[in-house]
Amino acid sequence: MEGLHIFGLSHYYGAHKVLDNASLMIPSGELVCMLGPSGSGKSTLLRLASGLEKVQEGTIVIDDVTVGTPSLHLHPEHRKVGVMFQDYTLFPHLTIIKNILFGLFNFPTDKAYKRAMNMLDQVGMTSYADKYPHTLSGGQQQRIALARALAPEPKLLLLDEPFSGLDTNMRQKIREETLNVLKENGVATLMVTHDPEEAMFMADRIKVMGESGRILQAGRPHEIYYHPRHEFVAKLFGMMNTFTGTVSEGRVETPLGSVLTDINDGVRAQVLVRPEGVIIENNGNDSGTSLEITSSHLLGHDNIVRARLNNGIGGELYVRVHHAFEVELKKNLSARLDPEYAFVFPLEDEMDLENLKPIN
Ligand SMILES: Nc1ncnc2c1ncn2[C@@H]1O[C@H](COP(=O)(O)OP(=O)(O)OP(=O)(O)O)[C@@H](O)[C@H]1O
Ligand SMILES: [Mg+2]
Repeated sequence: MEGLHIFGLSHYYGAHKVLDNASLMIPSGELVCMLGPSGSGKSTLLRLASGLEKVQEGTIVIDDVTVGTPSLHLHPEHRKVGVMFQDYTLFPHLTIIKNILFGLFNFPTDKAYKRAMNMLDQVGMTSYADKYPHTLSGGQQQRIALARALAPEPKLLLLDEPFSGLDTNMRQKIREETLNVLKENGVATLMVTHDPEEAMFMADRIKVMGESGRILQAGRPHEIYYHPRHEFVAKLFGMMNTFTGTVSEGRVETPLGSVLTDINDGVRAQVLVRPEGVIIENNGNDSGTSLEITSSHLLGHDNIVRARLNNGIGGELYVRVHHAFEVELKKNLSARLDPEYAFVFPLEDEMDLENLKPIN
């Protein structure tokens, strides 16, 4: 199969296990994002795939060619891999076109030049061919780094937090351009990011790494957001409202209504509710619980309001409402829960991260 295959990769630095039986498959043309806490082994996985690090346990296959096992190590330049790390340094003493030509030493001169110009065109930078890197903005340099990584026609592109140095607008623009270029070139891409929204925006699939270097959950962005299989995955996307209760007849009761679960009756459980999963309504809805708003913070399109239930149950709630929601006019409010944004996990999980089954 074309693309990247990783089977059962484990990796140690001394006695420290950094990767634990990680497996991954990326067909060509697909972009997979890896999300995970600092130190969870994301860069290590990229270094292993690129050939900068030798495989200790497991197998790496790129486009049907086995490139890494404990007894076989193909050097980075023979792997058809393009790499772009966070510090994507361009060579300062070379012009932009020469920076890109640098990786095309295997191509005949005229073909190399054509290819380099074509890549500059794809990232909208042809007019900068003869400029030097220090005269370009950060975003422009990032585009050149992308063109340089793609120029040798790699089968696999490895991106380690490639947009982290950019401001919000430039990030958005470069993300979109990058996606276009990658999809046009049909490259399998593995990208590391710390930003869950970036992963949602860019990825065909997301892999979430846990503290222990295991892949906790893998799936399409929709699945990761709406069907997190673990508390850690649910909490990746920011603040959550938390309630606890005991499962009874396949439900857990919360002050905002009950939530269905397939956890066994009698088990202590926590219900995590996203801020958009708390629906505030004017009174008159008998099914809601009355509440009072304590503060409001404008995020742009939305407001995050803090609220307290009038029955005194539970702590402060975080609720995402439309920006036009006029807090000061809102009296006699009630709240209920939208089950689509509510997730139930056994409380024991909190203590038992180590025994989590990896899901590939
Ligand atoms: N060359 C090395 N020698 C020893 N330990 C290392 C080496 N490289 C990484 N580590 C350790 O391995 C673990 C994983 O590192 P890695 O760089 O893969 O994490 P990461 O998930 O990329 O983190 P971040 O999000 O901070 O970039 C860390 O605990 C790190 O200290
Ligand atoms: Mg890293």
